[in-house]
Amino acid sequence: MAKFPEEILQRLRQAERIAILTGAGISAESGIPTFRDAQTGFWSRMKPEDLATPEAFERNPKLVWDWYGYRRELVAQASPNAGHYALVKMAEHVPQLTLITQNVDSLHQRAGSTNVLELHGNIGRVKCSKEHVVIEESAWLPADEIGVPRCPRCRALLRPDIVWFGEVLPTKTFNHAKAACIQADVVFSIGTSGLVPPAAMLPVTAIEHGAYGIEVNTDQTYLSDTFECCLRGASGIILPALVKAAWPL
Ligand code: APR
Repeated sequence: MAKFPEEILQRLRQAERIAILTGAGISAESGIPTFRDAQTGFWSRMKPEDLATPEAFERNPKLVWDWYGYRRELVAQASPNAGHYALVKMAEHVPQLTLITQNVDSLHQRAGSTNVLELHGNIGRVKCSKEHVVIEESAWLPADEIGVPRCPRCRALLRPDIVWFGEVLPTKTFNHAKAACIQADVVFSIGTSGLVPPAAMLPVTAIEHGAYGIEVNTDQTYLSDTFECCLRGASGIILPALVKAAWPL
């Protein structure tokens, strides 16, 4: 079993409240490419930052719709990995664990995590681009020459229920996440580059309010220095080992 500093194990066992922020890295071992990794095939020519914006959708709705269709396919074919399952196990040992994710892939929920705070939406949902109401697929009006289905209520184009660059995060969810971070004894940042505010700042907020900070990432991030402890490696390997070491029985 991997050796972890005793201080981390003690902190975990004693924690009443743990807040966890996850990013694309935790789903990498499920075969979903992270945002800033090289994309493959047709999509390799485009940067996600150029597709995941309201302006991109206005410019070329079909291109954006197809990019999300491609990612939705990837997500549908993927399964949760050992990292997702380890967080389900961890929750069984901690009085209050708040799981906050920037991911839109539902893999935490599919692994069995409950009450997941989704900061950036969910790729499985589609909403009206005007009214921002979620529309079930059975109600979509078929695509016309623009190539994107329309809202049955107002005929506006439909779009993924994702928070794009430049858009505001869901206020209630973000406030809930922030409150959990302020109260946390331990905060994890797992598989996130920490480059996209305001989500990226949540672990920093927790640490400023006294939480013990642990980063789990294959690489150094520009927020690494903020954390007391950086565990370098794949979350699918580190997290199960950590949970087993902290709560061996
Ligand atoms: N285990 C742990 N960390 C990993 C692994 C792994 N197996 N594989 C990659 N990583 C790390 C990378 O080193 C990187 O720091 O995961 C991080 C992924 O970073 P990003 O691709 O920037 O993803 P994320 O931080 O989730 O992006 C934030 O930006 O594009 C927007 O809205 C989108 O939610 C996303 C947000």
